[in-house]
Amino acid sequence: MASPDAPLLRALNGDRPERTPVWFMRQAGRSLPEYRELRVGTRMLDACLTPDLAAEITLQPVRRHGVDAGIFFSDIVVPLRLAGVEVEIEPGRGPVFASPVRTAADVDRLTSIDPDVVAQSAGPIKEAIRYVTQELGDVPLIGFAGAPFTLAAYLVEGGPSKEHMRARAMMAGDPASWNKLAGWLAQVSHAFLGAQIEAGASAVQLFDSWAGSLSPAAYRKSIAPHSTAALAGHDVPVIHFGVGTGPFLDDMRLGGVADAVGVDWRMPLDEAAGIVGEDVTLQGNIDPAMLQAPWPTLEAHVRDVLSRGEAARAHIVNLGHGVPPETDPDVLTRIVELVHEAQ
Ligand code: CP3
Repeated sequence: MASPDAPLLRALNGDRPERTPVWFMRQAGRSLPEYRELRVGTRMLDACLTPDLAAEITLQPVRRHGVDAGIFFSDIVVPLRLAGVEVEIEPGRGPVFASPVRTAADVDRLTSIDPDVVAQSAGPIKEAIRYVTQELGDVPLIGFAGAPFTLAAYLVEGGPSKEHMRARAMMAGDPASWNKLAGWLAQVSHAFLGAQIEAGASAVQLFDSWAGSLSPAAYRKSIAPHSTAALAGHDVPVIHFGVGTGPFLDDMRLGGVADAVGVDWRMPLDEAAGIVGEDVTLQGNIDPAMLQAPWPTLEAHVRDVLSRGEAARAHIVNLGHGVPPETDPDVLTRIVELVHEAQ
């Protein structure tokens, strides 16, 4: 069981622990040679649903980097697979669906699946998490889910896209279908989070990675209520993350449901703190591109992030988005040491 005194949980609670907590989105995965070795011959979603593999991959970056949290190795589309939706993750591309969900009839078909199926078929995930949390001891495990918009951005298109035009077009042109789809996705993510919390996750992060393609008005009207529903009633701290959400950062607090808001590399944390106020912790926001810079440049950047983070009520250091696959893992370890030593 994670200790309530763990720096991550204290920071989520609004405290400033002696040691600033740090972890990395996508810390488990392709930047690690030990991950690439374990994954040989196993498809991504099969790995996610094999308890001993998912557990070991989750633990790898915690052992290697000494980060302040594990993030469960899984994927935002895993609950859809658990619901029986045909989806694969294509290496180098991302989630691909056999049948895109584009018309009102497609939405009706998909949403006729009972979201309870996700909770009922989550056994492999819970088994992995029970083992991971035992191994982690005091270190918290973060569970996660995709927010309804980011999931819909893949589902409506049928795969990855740049501006998520089809999902946004459904939202604009057929709001009834949109709300039905997003409402169902909220229930699916809610069930996925519930399974992770039940099995021992100490906090959760909702990834709305592609929310930055929305206008503030569309975000407020068509997205925020569904993201809030995905989190409703879960009694662990919540981190809410998106890329390019500067124009509606205050809305990312979801009216106080989020204990922390993730900020990408585009907006300095002191500016972000001025927008979101004193009731929320900030997470971020090392520029992933800086991981390629010579150490003195990167070190100065990390120190700047730490110093601007002082403007927030509390700060969890992370990247502004996920670890790029080509990252030298030793650089990540060095950042953890720097953050832990910095006063
Ligand atoms: O440490 C961790 O964060 C591991 C757990 C994790 C994965 N995906 C593993 C993964 C998490 C939290 C995710 C979430 C996820 N998945 C998001 C939100 C986070 C973000 O990056 O914005 C999104 C948008 C997805 C969808 C997805 N899955 C994409 C775009 C890709 C990349 C495809 C590619 O190969 O370029 C994936 C695959 C994926 N998810 C991998 C990993 C480790 C790589 C697959 C592999 O190793 O073969």
